[in-house]
Amino acid sequence: MRKNIVAGNWKMNKTLQEGVALATELKNNLELAPATCEVVISTPFIHLATLAELLKNTPIHVGAENCANHDKGAFTGEVSAEMVRSTGAEYCIIGHSERRIYYKESYEALAEKVVLALTNDLKPIFCIGEVKEEREAGRQNEVVKAQLEGSVFTLSAEDFQKLTLAYEPVWAIGTGLTATSDQAQEMHAYIRSLIAAKYGNEIADNTTILYGGSCNAKNAAELFANPDVDGGLIGGASLKAPDFCAIIAAR
Ligand code: PGA
Repeated sequence: MRKNIVAGNWKMNKTLQEGVALATELKNNLELAPATCEVVISTPFIHLATLAELLKNTPIHVGAENCANHDKGAFTGEVSAEMVRSTGAEYCIIGHSERRIYYKESYEALAEKVVLALTNDLKPIFCIGEVKEEREAGRQNEVVKAQLEGSVFTLSAEDFQKLTLAYEPVWAIGTGLTATSDQAQEMHAYIRSLIAAKYGNEIADNTTILYGGSCNAKNAAELFANPDVDGGLIGGASLKAPDFCAIIAAR
């Protein structure tokens, strides 16, 4: 059985003190209303060690939002997968569209990051999704297929099973424009069919595929009701504990 996951993505928000306050509020809320899905918060690097310690022995798992595509050395400003893991963080978002677009991360670099994350025992949350023009041209399936083939379909079956995927249509991220429930289900089923063709039905059935893009307390239940939507990757709505907890409760 695949896992249901609700993962927050704080992006470049929250000072260390604000992050500790938010994580503490989440922890307290989830003690009162325990989650039935796995809960992850992906935070800036500077929060990881503190939050991993704060959330030890709680149901909240901590993740990074990125890692370097090199294992170590002279890469000023970069943080390696090994360094992330050493903080106690367990997850790592890789291939978020903001990294692909603003930092020009290539399929090859993302493939390297995934391998380094896996080598260092981090669980990648690998993001894929088309931009608005690609959706308007009806090219979303082709784009998502190329993203999978370019970075993760080179993994062995054993390694692929360690991934969580997140379908995040770029036109829906931070725009308030959510994919409709039908659009999300259609794409998630398509992604699952690609995994089945590459790795077989069992692995496809066991792969968690999250939806991301303006998912909030109001629309989460409808999106999560789809058979192939196994949870969400939540940006803006993960920055307020009551909203994030309402999304967790919807899964
Ligand atoms: P959003 O971001 O929920 O603010 O749209 C989602 C994401 O980028 O992961």
